[in-house]
Parts: sequence; structure tokens; C-alpha cells
Amino acid sequence: MGAVVLVTGASSGIGAALCQRLLQEDAAVRLCLACRSMQKAAATKALLLAAHPAAHVSLVRLDVSSLESVLQAAGEVQRRFQRLDYLFLNAGIMPNTRVNFKALVSGLFSGKAIHMLSTAEGLITQEDSVTADGLQEVFETNLFGHFILGLYSSVVCPGLVMTNLTYGILPYFFWKLLMPIMWLIRFFTKTYTLMPYNGAEAQVWLFRQKPESLDALMKYHSCTSPWWGNYVEARKMDVDEEAAEIFYQKLLELEKQVLARMNVPLNTQK
Ligand SMILES: NC(=O)c1ccc[n+]([C@@H]2O[C@H](COP(=O)([O-])OP(=O)(O)OC[C@H]3O[C@@H](n4cnc5c(N)ncnc54)[C@H](OP(=O)(O)O)[C@@H]3O)[C@@H](O)[C@H]2O)c1
Repeated sequence: MGAVVLVTGASSGIGAALCQRLLQEDAAVRLCLACRSMQKAAATKALLLAAHPAAHVSLVRLDVSSLESVLQAAGEVQRRFQRLDYLFLNAGIMPNTRVNFKALVSGLFSGKAIHMLSTAEGLITQEDSVTADGLQEVFETNLFGHFILGLYSSVVCPGLVMTNLTYGILPYFFWKLLMPIMWLIRFFTKTYTLMPYNGAEAQVWLFRQKPESLDALMKYHSCTSPWWGNYVEARKMDVDEEAAEIFYQKLLELEKQVLARMNVPLNTQK
């Protein structure tokens, strides 16, 4: 029996590319696409099966911005597989993004242009909203909805990848104008992975590692060389361990509160 692999947000972008790559790595894996839209998930499944007709691919409805949906999906996966070997916490959003054009222009003429363009630091703002659970949508989708699954995870960075998420930042024609510049910058900036296939490199690499060989303080970056060679670079995360511990305790406290509100016993939700 192949390993059971669940990918959240597998319906597009890096998640969908990751699923393709995992099937190339190991045709026996049992892939479970955990998505909020069953229609998009079914379309991704059809694409995967077109390339790998014998693959085991199933779908589970999961909206990570809803704690009820997360708990339901976890129960469904447990009933269906009785085990989970790999879990990729990939779903994420960047809603209502705006570019700070003033910062962009002044950044282009500063000595930090490449750094600014490769990290988008100080360039992007987003408008958050509140979910039905009363939490900030970005926090619940990108972090807390995954956190309540009660897991220790490794951190990966896909680099800059052109997906629905990034195309949402600027009008489409802007991207068209910027593309030649970005392809030029790509020669000097290894984290400009640009394509979902390349962006999934660090996740595929993780799939091959033994958990005990991983360092919780490292971020594993997907990188692409000027000649389109993909590789992974481990970079020490700039985290204050004391602040991280306080944050972790606050997350545990929040978890306790929301599960009590939903009448879910703390130890049975996982
Ligand atoms: N692209 C980049 O340059 C970049 C850089 C750094 C980090 N990332 C991270 O990489 C991950 C994948 O992003 P991407 O670039 O591949 O973007 P994407 O194409 O927009 O994919 C995001 C996936 O997450 C799903 N999703 C969003 N909200 C969800 C929710 N509430 N419940 C379940 N699924 C949800 C989306 O589903 P729908 O199809 O239904 O919308 C989609 O399948 C994200 O966590 C993102 O933050 C991306």
C-alpha cells in the first residue's frame, strides 16, 4: 500500500504542481486533495489522472478558514485511510492586495532594488476580513486552520511563483509588462522560481527526507538556477525563540477557547 499524502489547497498553483510531482516521484502514493471547491478539485484530479491513469487520487472538502470544516475533514481522512504519512499545509491566501507604487518607485532607485523585488518587502498591503469563527481570515486560513490539526511541521518557501495568488496582486497587463524584467532578474535571483513546478521543489525534497534529519529553525527554500536547475537551500529563520514560544502558547490558548466554544474535547480533534 502506498503512502497516504494529503495536500491542502491542491486545486491550483503550487499545490497542483506538487501533486503532479509526487506522482512522478512515487506512482504508488495515495493522494488526497483537500480543497474548498470540489469542482476545482475534480478538475485537478482529472488532470492528474490524465497524466497518471493508475494513480490513487481522492478528494476531501476542506475550507481552512472554517474550524468546523477542518475538524470534519480530519475526521473524514481518519475514517477513510486510518493513517496519514505526509501532510502538505499548502492552502493560503493574500486577499485584496495593493501595491505601494511610491515604495516601488523609490525602491527601484535605491541600492535595495533586487532585495525589494525578490521579497516584496514593504511593497504589498492587503485587506483582511473576519471569518464566521470570529478570526482574521488571513490568520485562520494561512495559519490557525492548519495549526488546530496539532502538528509539528517544517517550513518551506516556494520563492516567487506566478500563480492565481501572485496574478491577483496587479492587473494582468502589468504582469505582461513586467515579465521581461522578471525573466532578467531571474538570472541573478535564485528565489525567482516563477513556475509552480519549480516552486514545489522544496516540498518534493521534504517528501524524500527523514523527519529526524530536519531542523525546525530552518526554512527550506525552492531555488532555480539561471539554467533552470532546481535545488533546495536551507536558510536559518530569523526568529526570536522566546517570542516564538510566547506565540505558540497563545495559539494553544486560542485553540482551547475555540474548541470549547464548539464543544469539541481538546484531545479528540486530531
Ligand atoms: N506564489 C508565490 O509566489 C508564493 C510565495 C510564497 C508563499 N506562497 C504560498 O504558497 C501556497 C500556495 O499558493 P499558490 O501560489 O499556489 O497560490 P494559488 O494558486 O492561489 O493556490 C492557493 C490554494 O489555496 C487554496 N485555498 C485558499 N483558501 C483556502 C481555504 N480557505 N480553504 C482551502 N483551500 C484554500 C486555493 O483554493 P481555490 O482554488 O479554491 O482558491 C488554492 O488551491 C500558499 O500558502 C501561499 O501563501 C506562494
